[in-house]
Amino acid sequence: MAIRSGFSSRLGFVAAAAGSAVGLGNIWKFPFEVGAGGGGVFLIMYLAFCFLLCFPVMVAEIAIGRKTQRNPVGAFKVLGFPKWSIIGKLGLVSGVLILSFYNVVAGWAFGYFLEMIMGNFTIGEHFGEYIKDVVKVGAYGLIFMGTTAYIVSKGISGGIEKAAKLLMPTLVIIMLSLVAYSLTLDNAWEGIKFYLVPDISEVRLEVVYKALGQAFFSLSLGMGALITYGSYVGKNENIITSAVLITFADVGIAFIAGLMMFPLVFSQGLPPNGGPGLIFVTLPGVFGSLGGGLGIFIGSLFFLLLSFAALTSTVSLLEVPVSYVVDELDIRRTKAVWLVALIIFVVGLPSLIGNGYSAMFTNFITYLGDEKTTNFMDFVGHVANDTFLPLGGFLISMFAAYIWKKPKFYGEISKGYPGFENSIWSKYLGFGVRYLCPTILGLLFILTVLDRFFGITVIA
Ligand code: PHE
Repeated sequence: MAIRSGFSSRLGFVAAAAGSAVGLGNIWKFPFEVGAGGGGVFLIMYLAFCFLLCFPVMVAEIAIGRKTQRNPVGAFKVLGFPKWSIIGKLGLVSGVLILSFYNVVAGWAFGYFLEMIMGNFTIGEHFGEYIKDVVKVGAYGLIFMGTTAYIVSKGISGGIEKAAKLLMPTLVIIMLSLVAYSLTLDNAWEGIKFYLVPDISEVRLEVVYKALGQAFFSLSLGMGALITYGSYVGKNENIITSAVLITFADVGIAFIAGLMMFPLVFSQGLPPNGGPGLIFVTLPGVFGSLGGGLGIFIGSLFFLLLSFAALTSTVSLLEVPVSYVVDELDIRRTKAVWLVALIIFVVGLPSLIGNGYSAMFTNFITYLGDEKTTNFMDFVGHVANDTFLPLGGFLISMFAAYIWKKPKFYGEISKGYPGFENSIWSKYLGFGVRYLCPTILGLLFILTVLDRFFGITVIA
């Protein structure tokens, strides 16, 4: 059993969990998912899912982690329900899959930092070729995974969280400045309209489950990352307050990223549904238009901070399988870290080469009832983010409500929040884990699998 060092203060845990939540999911993925999902409609669904469905799951994950002080597989065994450790096993698979492609994108972001330093503002126009250069972006990915592994192996993520407390506000300031700048451009308000005013005709089942997957992904939920982090939380901490802070930080940064991107996209006359290249295609030109020195400074700082935000997320992603291997298989931490990181890097190779370099992984799969082929990276996203994470959330809420049950679940929360059981939060949480999450997440899981993978559209 690893010795749990514990976070030094409440802010230590909140900063680490927020560091896990805030990452490429907010700044890279959120804007292009909004763009593909028709704008305002996606935004509203995403917000509703974060607060109504994800929040109760987040509280349950942290409580399970703190109670058991274990990794997501061991946690359910300690509670006396070994069969439910299937949740943790599913989480391990999700974590490995997510980190495998996440690391590739983090490599792009890091590479863009170097391009910006060199003043290469036209890189956005060559994004397609850039990601095809697998030796170069592969090397960046390797550097990124190596850095993540190094941090996890030394158990020094505490230092990273401290740095993040300074760096993340800087990123937010840059983003807010870009929001202000973008609003002065032609067509900016078209972008704002697209983002904020919902067009009801865009409501499709696909938009619903993409928004759900995005909410879970962005909040790092459904795979036990917060069970793992929760295992380091002190008993006198208020889990509810922590969860509120984490959720607002994450949702707030995603919201700002959208405000920044859509005016820029519309002012450049680009389609908002440009897919995963959206920020990489749009932003370099914007930095270039700021003028040489300033463009280099802001552009490189932006991509450096984005890489940093990604790093606090990759650390939490790697920590999940590593804590499992260390606790349950009794392998030394350093060895476990490098082994797991290597495996994940290899699992990520098809995602790396499936962006134009290898035809087989670029046109990887065509689902039943679909005309388009999906590349490997998107396929992994469909399986892990959009399907497994909400499934994990469904199981966690069922477990907390009906297996672990109220007295123990609420008892754990009450340790750091004395009046909890009589507060409005307990009603909100109870309704969430007992009724809302199981029904909606369960139903959406079935509909998603049928629609996405089998082309069976139950609801048009
Ligand atoms: N939430 C992270 C992001 O938005 C990604 C992540 C998902 C991290 C799941 C941990 C677990 O970038």
